[in-house]
Amino acid sequence: MVTAAFGSPAEARLVEAIRASGGYIAELALVATLDDDVVGHVMISRCTLHTDDSPVSIVMLSPLAVDPEHHGRGIGGLLVTAVTALADALGEPLVVLEGDPRYYSRFGFQPASSHGIELPLPDWAPAAAAQVMPLTNDDPTLRGRVVYPASFDVLGD
Ligand SMILES: CC(C)(COP(=O)(O)OP(=O)(O)OC[C@H]1O[C@@H](n2cnc3c(N)ncnc32)[C@H](O)[C@@H]1OP(=O)(O)O)[C@@H](O)C(=O)NCCC(=O)NCCS
Repeated sequence: MVTAAFGSPAEARLVEAIRASGGYIAELALVATLDDDVVGHVMISRCTLHTDDSPVSIVMLSPLAVDPEHHGRGIGGLLVTAVTALADALGEPLVVLEGDPRYYSRFGFQPASSHGIELPLPDWAPAAAAQVMPLTNDDPTLRGRVVYPASFDVLGD
């Protein structure tokens, strides 16, 4: 399903790599089902924020995928809303992601730059693709550079 959503197997390999890594958070890996079929999937897992003081473990939403036959029905929105609420309930201060702000801003994601947070975007991605959702335990002093874990190496550059 993830391969079908992205039109290539790279993100499905990423899901497997995250699940096999220490950054995997089982409670923050969700599927959406319709008549027992998996039609959507989202993960929030660990990455590192390099602050001026020290590295801090934070969380990142990636990947998000919905079966192409079921796009536009709100499944992606339900997954984003549910998984970020669970991250909030676990006490995480914020969620970062790389994606289209025209999609993610509706859920409360904001430009990462306005929070002093930098993501390692690929050359082709606009700066606005780096986004942050502050949660209940948001700490505005958490600023710095996000470093992805090795599991993301499967995506290449
Ligand atoms: C992005 C994705 C998860 C959205 O899932 P979905 O279930 O169709 O999303 P929803 O039904 O909650 O929302 C649909 C709305 O999002 C919009 N949308 C979808 N992808 C978008 C994008 N990349 N940029 C801007 N808007 C987007 C749709 O146009 C639609 O808008 P509308 O509500 O004004 O009609 C799905 O299109 C997908 O799996 N895409 C391929 C994988 C991908 O790109 N994942 C995100 C990586 S950051």
